[in-house]
Amino acid sequence: MDAALLPKAELHVHVEGTLEPELVVELARRHRVALPTADPELLRAARHFTDLQSFLDQYYDAAELLRTEQDFHDLMAAYLARAERAGVRRAEVFLDPQHHTGRGVPLEAVFGGLSAAAAASPVSVDLIPCFLRHLGPDAALEALRTWLPYREHFIGVGLDSTEIGNPPAAYAPAYALAAAEGLHRTAHVGEEGTSADVAEALDTLGIERLDHGNHALDDVEVVARLRDAGTPLTVCPLSNVALRVVDDLTAHPLPAMLDAGLVVTVNSDDPAYFGGYVDDNFRALRDVVGLTDAQLTQLAIASFDASFAEPAARATWR
Ligand code: ADE
Ligand code: ZN
Repeated sequence: MDAALLPKAELHVHVEGTLEPELVVELARRHRVALPTADPELLRAARHFTDLQSFLDQYYDAAELLRTEQDFHDLMAAYLARAERAGVRRAEVFLDPQHHTGRGVPLEAVFGGLSAAAAASPVSVDLIPCFLRHLGPDAALEALRTWLPYREHFIGVGLDSTEIGNPPAAYAPAYALAAAEGLHRTAHVGEEGTSADVAEALDTLGIERLDHGNHALDDVEVVARLRDAGTPLTVCPLSNVALRVVDDLTAHPLPAMLDAGLVVTVNSDDPAYFGGYVDDNFRALRDVVGLTDAQLTQLAIASFDASFAEPAARATWR
C-alpha cells in the first residue's frame, strides 16, 4: 500500500483553508460577487506568499465568500471527500467563527452547515473553533461565551492568526473558561514565534497539543518539556515551506523532532493554499525528506493517539 494513503487522523486543518479556487468561483457566482478572474487556475496561481500575514490577508479575503449554511456545508463536504481519498478516517477541523460573525454571518449557519456535512461523511469529524489573535484576548473570551450555546457542535478551542506581536499568555482567561467547560485545548505557537512563546503557552494555556511548534526546537529545555509530557505536535510541512517558516523541505525540522523523541503528527493546515492535502504532505516527506515507510507508519499511528476522540472510537479507525 502507498504509505501516503495509510489510515490516519488529520488534527490540523482550517476549514477556511480548504476553500479551493473552483468553490471560490461557485460562491462568487452564487452571491454575485465580482472576481478579478473566473479562471480557477489563475486564482490558484495567485496563491503564493512571503510569510504568515501575506497568506492570512488572502485567506480572510476569500473566506468572506462564505455566507450561508449551504456555503459552509459545501466547503466541508468538499474537504471531507478529498480527505477520505487521502486515507483520513478522523478529522479534527479548525474554524474561525469570529471572522464570520464579525461580518454578520450567524453562528447557526457556520456550525449548522459544517456539522451537517460532517454527519453525512464516513470520516469521523469534530470541530475546534479558534480564537483569532489579531482581535485580542477580550474578544476571545467574549467569543467563547457566544459559542457555548453551540457546545454540541465542538470539542475544543484553538488559537490562530497573527502570531508575531500576540503572545499566548493574554489568552489564559479564555483557555481557563474552555477548561472549566470541559473543552480540549490546543494553540498555534512557534510557527513564526519563538521557543519562549512555546514555553509561555505551556505555562499559561493548559494546552494538550501544540500546533506547529517548529521553534520549540531552538531550546533543549522546551523540547524536554514537550517530550516528558508527551505533548503532540501537529506539524504541517508543506505549509511551512509555503509560508517560508523553513527554506525548503530538506531543511524541515520534522526528522529532528522525531529524533528528539517528540510525538509528531503530519497535517495539511490550509491545503487549498499550500499545494497539498495530508497525503501530499506524507508523500513529500517520503520523496523529498527521505522518511521510510516505517517512519510514515509511526506518524500515522501517532495521529490517532494524539486525537481528542475517545480511545474506544480510535480503535475502529486503524
Ligand atoms: N490560520 C490559518 N492557517 C494558519 C496558520 N498556518 N497559522 C496561523 N493562523 C492560521
Ligand atoms: Zn494552522
